Amino acid sequence: MSIVVVVGAQWGDEGKGKIVDLLTASAAVVARYGGGANAGHTLVVGGQKTVIRLVPSGVLRATPTCVLGPGMVIDPAVLLEELDTLIARGAMDASLSRVIVSDRAHLVLPHHMVVDRLRESGAGAIGTTKRGIGPAYEDKVARRGVRAIDLVYPNELEAKVRANVDAWLPTIRALGGEAPDVGALVATLREQARRIAPLVRDASDVLHDAKKRGANVLLEGAQGTMLDIDHGTYPHVTSSTVLSGGAASGGGLAPTDIDRVVGITKAYTTRVGGGPFPSEMAEVEAERLRKAGGEFGAVTGRPRRCGWLDIPVLRHAVRFNGLSMLAITKLDVLSGWDPVRMVVAYELDGRRLERPPATGLDRVVPVYEEMPGWSGDLTTCRSWGDLPARARAFIERVEQLTECQAAIVSVGPDREQTIIRQSVFG
Ligand code: IMP
Repeated sequence: MSIVVVVGAQWGDEGKGKIVDLLTASAAVVARYGGGANAGHTLVVGGQKTVIRLVPSGVLRATPTCVLGPGMVIDPAVLLEELDTLIARGAMDASLSRVIVSDRAHLVLPHHMVVDRLRESGAGAIGTTKRGIGPAYEDKVARRGVRAIDLVYPNELEAKVRANVDAWLPTIRALGGEAPDVGALVATLREQARRIAPLVRDASDVLHDAKKRGANVLLEGAQGTMLDIDHGTYPHVTSSTVLSGGAASGGGLAPTDIDRVVGITKAYTTRVGGGPFPSEMAEVEAERLRKAGGEFGAVTGRPRRCGWLDIPVLRHAVRFNGLSMLAITKLDVLSGWDPVRMVVAYELDGRRLERPPATGLDRVVPVYEEMPGWSGDLTTCRSWGDLPARARAFIERVEQLTECQAAIVSVGPDREQTIIRQSVFG
């Protein structure tokens, strides 16, 4: 029995969805612990592609209970749309008996999205996903948020929503937006509540029960370490705790319950939105990598910025997530590049840095290391020995520089295209 956290080690989009789906084969419960519909997990099973944003990636397995944890911010409209898609695909039955929405999770309301969009059209834009994530977390911290439990008590809903909207009116007006119609908003929420309220409960009971009976539990991170509100590239970050430190409270367990943390990294780096990116490639190279790796946002369709693997970022991820092991994804995409490169340190004002600084990341000079590249199709490799020697040497160098073992190597989007070197659940 193990409780395992899966966390992004870079700027998100590392392929967490595929790894969670894979690990869920031996888990009884999968819980998302933070973020909302800003995440987009692309799952490919039997060649069929599904993008999910709120429900944990374990949903495409037949049995695990899927928990939307207390640390999340949930857009009810997106949730219902996603559940309907999953039902239509046959991934879950219409009774939704496997889905649990934490009573303590906060709701993303339409005016959160309006504020996010208006802000993003102005000078202070940071390239958010415009899903209302920041404003919803602002409400949570300001202690005026509307929570999933409020959908269970429709009579009290109107007063809560009205107070919430009132708090936003000055901001909406200052940004040139229109005041939301509270009556219509509440009517829609009551309608959505008819389907969502039956799923709402104290989600921690499910996790604790699983722990008691010795079942495996997965806590699924969204976004990536460098987007963490405390340790990311502030202010170009998301508004929640992405790190494994947030997995316990955001999922519904205690820190001492966690047995292992798996950090997911691509064999290179991508980023969407603004902010510093030391290992970013020149556009000609980036375009080649973007095409080869299909690097376009799952939620927004935005072309992702592309760069070489950044070891200081991974060292940061190892330190702040307490990574037990790495899962390296998209190794196949680097086939045909010669040499392959990685950033092993930064220089800032004459000093060598092993990890990203709190400020000045936009000014660092990356220190590159080159290794001979490999060619050929890696997508059919199924064991460590199947990989070209140079690809193995690349992984081993990453392990050496990060002091963390690569337990999983992924060579394609499908479940089968995976090399497992070490068991995650022990
Ligand atoms: P927000 O989370 O929509 O507020 O966006 C804040 C920053 O996080 C922006 O740079 C987004 O592009 C980035 N971001 C949020 N969610 C994801 C994700 O799932 N993958 C990659 N980047 C993300």
